[in-house]
Amino acid sequence: MTAPPPSRLPAAVAERFAREFGGAAPRLFFAPGRINLVGAHLDYNGGDVLPMAVDRGIFAAVRLRADGRLRLRSLDQELAIDVDAAAIGRRTRPEWGWAGYPLGVWHAFLQRTGATAGFDAVFAGDLPMASGLSSSAAIEVVTAIALDTLHGTRLDRQQLALLAHRAETGFVGVRCGIMDQFASALGRAGQVLLLRCAGPRWEHVPFDPSACEVLVMDTRKPRLLAKSGFNERVAQCATAHELLRAHGRDLPHLAAYSLDELERCREVMEDVLFRRARHVVTEMARTALAVAALRRHDYAALGAQLDASHRSTAADFEVSCDELDVVTDAARGCDEVFGARLTGAGFGGCAIALVRQGASAAVAARVGAAFAARFGVQPGFDLLRVGNGPGELG
Ligand code: GLA
Repeated sequence: MTAPPPSRLPAAVAERFAREFGGAAPRLFFAPGRINLVGAHLDYNGGDVLPMAVDRGIFAAVRLRADGRLRLRSLDQELAIDVDAAAIGRRTRPEWGWAGYPLGVWHAFLQRTGATAGFDAVFAGDLPMASGLSSSAAIEVVTAIALDTLHGTRLDRQQLALLAHRAETGFVGVRCGIMDQFASALGRAGQVLLLRCAGPRWEHVPFDPSACEVLVMDTRKPRLLAKSGFNERVAQCATAHELLRAHGRDLPHLAAYSLDELERCREVMEDVLFRRARHVVTEMARTALAVAALRRHDYAALGAQLDASHRSTAADFEVSCDELDVVTDAARGCDEVFGARLTGAGFGGCAIALVRQGASAAVAARVGAAFAARFGVQPGFDLLRVGNGPGELG
C-alpha cells in the first residue's frame, strides 16, 4: 500500500463554496482525525491515553459574515443548514444533524470570546465517517481553529481543544472525555500524544514510521449503540468510583486506584461494575508499558499491549463485537503484525493493526479473506500515517 495522492478536498470545498455562496474567496482549514494506540475508555476516568493524530481529517472552507447567520454545507452529507444565531440555544436539535458539531463550537466560541458574527462554511472529510477515527472531533477542531484565526482571538491549542470538547459534551450531549479533541488539536507530525487526562498534562513521544505502519481495518459495522452504550459505560464507571470512595480510599479518579484496592472492594460491587473498573485500572498499567516500549522503539512490546487492551475492552468493558474480534484476531494471526485492537469507543467501526513496514498490503489481503469468509463482506483497509495538527492551508 502506498501513500495517497495529495488530497483534492481543499479544492473541492473551495469550489462548492463559490457555487453555494459566491463573493470573496473563503479561507481553508484542516484538522486531523486520530487513532488511539492504547488507553481505551480512560480519558473520562482521569487516566493516561496514547492517541496519535493521523494524516486524514476534515477540511473546511470558511468565511465570516457580518450578521449572525450560519450557513453550513458538507460534501459528505446532504443536510444543508441555514440558521440564525438567535435560534441557537444551549443544545443542538435533531433536525440539525451533523451540523450540531460546528454549531456547538460556534456557541462555545461565542461564550468564550463574545464574538457574535455568523459564518458560511463547507466541510469535507477523508476519514471514514462515524467509524471511531474521530471525524466529530476533527470537525469541531477545524471549526474552532477557523473561528479563532478569522476573529484573530489567538487561543492556544489547549483552549481550542477545550472549546471543541465543550461543544460535544454541552451542545451535542455526548459525555465523552477530552482525548479526541486534544489528539486533533495537539497533533504533531512524527509523534504520538501521551495525554494524562487528570491534569490535563501531556508530552509528545516519537513514533518511528519507518519501523511500523498503522493499518486501519473498517469492519463496516455501524456503531448503532455507540452513543447509548458509551454513556452507559461512563455512568457505570462513575458508580464504581463512588463505591470505591465510600469503601476504600478517596481518590479523585477511578483510574487512580490500584488493582489491589479494587480487589479489596470487590464484594461491595456488582460483578459488572467490578469488571468495568478492572478494565480501567489494568488499562492504566498497559498505557505505561506501551509508552516505555515506544520510547525504546520496541514495536513488538508495544503491539503486545494493544492485544491485551483489546482483550480487556472485549471481556471486561464489553464494547467489542464479533466483527472487531474477528478482524483483530485475523490480523494477529499474521507474522508481520505486532498487535491489533479496536479504536475509538468500540461497538463496531474500525480496528487498527501495527504492521511491520511494507507489509500492510499482504496483511490486508489475508485479513480481508478471513473476514469475508465469516461475514460475507470485505472490510475496508487504509494505511494511516502520523499526521500534523490543525491549521490554515496554503
Ligand atoms: C470515544 C470518546 C473518547 C474516548 C474513546 C474511548 O472516542 O469520544 O473520549 O472515551 O471513545 O477511549
